[in-house]
Amino acid sequence: MKSKIIILGVSGGIAAVKAPELMRLLTKKGFQVECVLTRSAVNFVKLPGVKVYVDLFESGFNAKKVLVQRQVEHIALADKADLILIAPATANLMAKLAHGIADDYLTTLILATKAPVIICPAMNVNMWNHPAVKENLAKVKQLGYEIINPVAGRLACSYEGLGRLEELNKIVKTVVERLKVKDSLKGKKILVTAGPTREPIDSVRFITNASSGKMGTAIAEAAKKRGAEVRLLMGQTDFVTGQDLLALVKKTTPDYDIIFHTAAVGDFGVQTRPGKLSSRRPVNLRLETQVKILEQIKKFNPKIRVIGFKAEYGLPGKLTVQFGADATIYNDVSRKDIGFASDDNEVILVMPGRKIKIKKTSKTIVAGKLLDFLVRHYRWKFLGGEF
Ligand SMILES: Cc1cc2nc3c(=O)[nH]c(=O)nc-3n(C[C@H](O)[C@H](O)[C@H](O)COP(=O)(O)O)c2cc1C
Repeated sequence: MKSKIIILGVSGGIAAVKAPELMRLLTKKGFQVECVLTRSAVNFVKLPGVKVYVDLFESGFNAKKVLVQRQVEHIALADKADLILIAPATANLMAKLAHGIADDYLTTLILATKAPVIICPAMNVNMWNHPAVKENLAKVKQLGYEIINPVAGRLACSYEGLGRLEELNKIVKTVVERLKVKDSLKGKKILVTAGPTREPIDSVRFITNASSGKMGTAIAEAAKKRGAEVRLLMGQTDFVTGQDLLALVKKTTPDYDIIFHTAAVGDFGVQTRPGKLSSRRPVNLRLETQVKILEQIKKFNPKIRVIGFKAEYGLPGKLTVQFGADATIYNDVSRKDIGFASDDNEVILVMPGRKIKIKKTSKTIVAGKLLDFLVRHYRWKFLGGEF
């Protein structure tokens, strides 16, 4: 079988000295490794006998030759990569990625590739904690790059703290995992609803819930990473009320293969009064039950797989698949450490004949585990192994 091609990008941090060992570990796993170094990285590491890419323009560069041959080396490399791993990534490199700067071989290659990119930052603890670095990190994540955070320990600059490159074995493990699941949802169109609904009481007040949309966002990101075409419908951005969401779901579901309905739909509507209610006297609000969106989805598209999320205040003893869904994912919103607005979750996935618990971990990991389980269960792609 053809080896997967990993491009190892090395930027100019002290941890660049680990590149030969990282390359050895990746090669041992059967990957073909191509090395791209920044000019600064060349000061830290030599890779004798290995072809390394550093400069975009070779000496004696001839534009006419490029036009005749129709071959641009860094674009060809970007195209053939199965995955790009940047280890270490300097603060400078992350700043460039956050802003789409492409002023050398590595940054140009990263912009040109469609392959997943994993970034392993490593730097002095004060650099890591600098607001500019934090802002760039957030931006880089938002752009869809995966980050393997640095770990705490003794740094080369003699400081103690966060900033050390993650252990090489763990980096390699992530690469292997990522390649295993890459493309597992290719060709699938996935719709994700997320966040809260708001039901207006009058023109300025509303009732809502504490959902942040983080779980749905994590599902959408995990699905994208696995090659799916994803549309995320987010509360406050794409819809406001439950009725809005129902209309949107009705309109969009016929185009999708799978829906993750994670939105926390307010179960009640309120009779809205125009203007601003006077607060001089008490007001009775009548909460009217709403049509359950989940129960409607298969009417709009009978073929769609419906994965419903159910927030329970304390989990009931008997967990069943909700009406209208193929699977229901329960989480307990009475717990302060998981669920609404938290970065973590613990869920139980229930489907006919199966019940699976994913223990408390980050919503990103929960989303990945859920998707990998569903890919195997529905045989969307053979991933090997058991859940
Ligand atoms: C000895 C030494 C060690 C360095 N270590 C790091 C580091 O660990 N992380 C980092 O972000 N920058 C580090 N730098 C600074 C980078 O080399 C510098 O920001 C450079 O512009 C990075 O270029 P590049 O991102 O193109 O590789 C170090 C510089 C020196 C001289």
